[in-house]
Amino acid sequence: MKNLSLQINIKIYDYNELSNADRELMDQAIAATERSYAPYSHFSVGAAARLTNGIIVSGSNQENAAYPSGICAERTTLFYANSQYPDQAVETLAIAARNGQGLLDDPIPPCGACRQVMLETEKRFNHPMRVLLYGEKGIYEMKEIGDLLPLSFKASSME
Ligand code: THU
Repeated sequence: MKNLSLQINIKIYDYNELSNADRELMDQAIAATERSYAPYSHFSVGAAARLTNGIIVSGSNQENAAYPSGICAERTTLFYANSQYPDQAVETLAIAARNGQGLLDDPIPPCGACRQVMLETEKRFNHPMRVLLYGEKGIYEMKEIGDLLPLSFKASSME
């Protein structure tokens, strides 16, 4: 028997320790939570992606009475970014969420499907995607999707 340990790295920042560019991106993710359509969960998520050309696109979760037809904020944002700017890698993706009490104290961990889509975007452009997760008590920074999705399935897994 052998043991395989995989390490992930997360840095935690206060909001005011972020660079101006990261603060701007996070502000856009927070603003996007206000444009969420979440009449069923009452849980509003916003995401903002900064592309290599400097453009920021944002999106929010969009729910549906047929629950599985809805989509998370992260995938709304990445699919929009990739369809509008198919030759631009995503430098950084910021994510924020609020419930009935306001913005969450602890960062929202993105769902598995969104992590898989983040990985695809990263691999597609062969460019690491930073992820910033907003929490009132601290902002998590992951430098690449491997820190969110270790032991991932990707195209090279089929070779
Ligand atoms: N949601 C997101 O938008 N992103 C996530 O990473 C997790 C969950 C949304 C989906 C649904 O509209 C609501 O939050 C509750 O699950």
